[in-house]
Amino acid sequence: MKRVKPMKASGLSIKPTVLKLGGSVITHKDKPLKANLPAIRRLAEEIAEAKIPQLIVVHGGGSFGHTMAKEYAIKEGFRGEASQLLGFTKTHQAMITLNNMVLETLIQHNIPVMAIAPSSFIISKSDRIANMTYKPLKRLLDIGAVPLLYGDAVLDSDKGFTILSGDQLVASLAIYFDARRIVVSIDEDGLFTADPKKPGRPDFISKCTLRKLRKLQRQIKSTNTCDVTGGMQGKISELIPAIEAGIPTLIVNGTISRRIYKALKGEKVTGTLIQKE
Ligand code: IPE
Repeated sequence: MKRVKPMKASGLSIKPTVLKLGGSVITHKDKPLKANLPAIRRLAEEIAEAKIPQLIVVHGGGSFGHTMAKEYAIKEGFRGEASQLLGFTKTHQAMITLNNMVLETLIQHNIPVMAIAPSSFIISKSDRIANMTYKPLKRLLDIGAVPLLYGDAVLDSDKGFTILSGDQLVASLAIYFDARRIVVSIDEDGLFTADPKKPGRPDFISKCTLRKLRKLQRQIKSTNTCDVTGGMQGKISELIPAIEAGIPTLIVNGTISRRIYKALKGEKVTGTLIQKE
């Protein structure tokens, strides 16, 4: 008897790949509002060359979003002060500025990207995505376009506003569209048994199950004081629901040439592959 495949929520014929361009890769994290344009150009080249049929790109905030979000305490929610409200719009504006650089560079490399501001179609509830319409994204994927999104300052039904990380967005999109894989780029080779930015020689983890990841989660502490979305620990927690849903997630070093290309193509690459089992 012919087996009927269950309809995926997305109804897409090809499973998409969800790529996260980390803020630490596309900006100089220690220099406020400074993009790393050579890195953005190189990544655009790699994405163009990989020619992935269904691709969603999400980028992080780096020294744009995080700097502003921290200055105005956006993640703490709206305290009713006019200056903080202006900070909310400034944080979003900083993300638009960074997004424009990514968008222009990707278009220059003939990648048919369409940027969509997450704050225009997502409302969170206590920091979690609660209300989101996937229809425009689905339509874009249907016609072969590449939706480009980013971590953003968004409205929150409990807190007034908050910061939505690119990682939460990545996991949510990957689950909804039943992604083939998630590729997350950071400025490290992948996961280690301890923070590689601290003294010592932690072991590199090339493969990891969900169980091992949860154990590791308690060990990894972030060193980055300018990250309002929880650094590496926050990243891992956000990605867990997608891994639980069975989506293989590869963490690679986006600052090193060809790693993203290889990861997108499914070629052997230095990185941490996290799978459910
Ligand atoms: C943060 O997004 C967005 C803002 C601060 C507005 P991410 O948390 O995904 O950014 P990176 O990749 O860690 O810089």
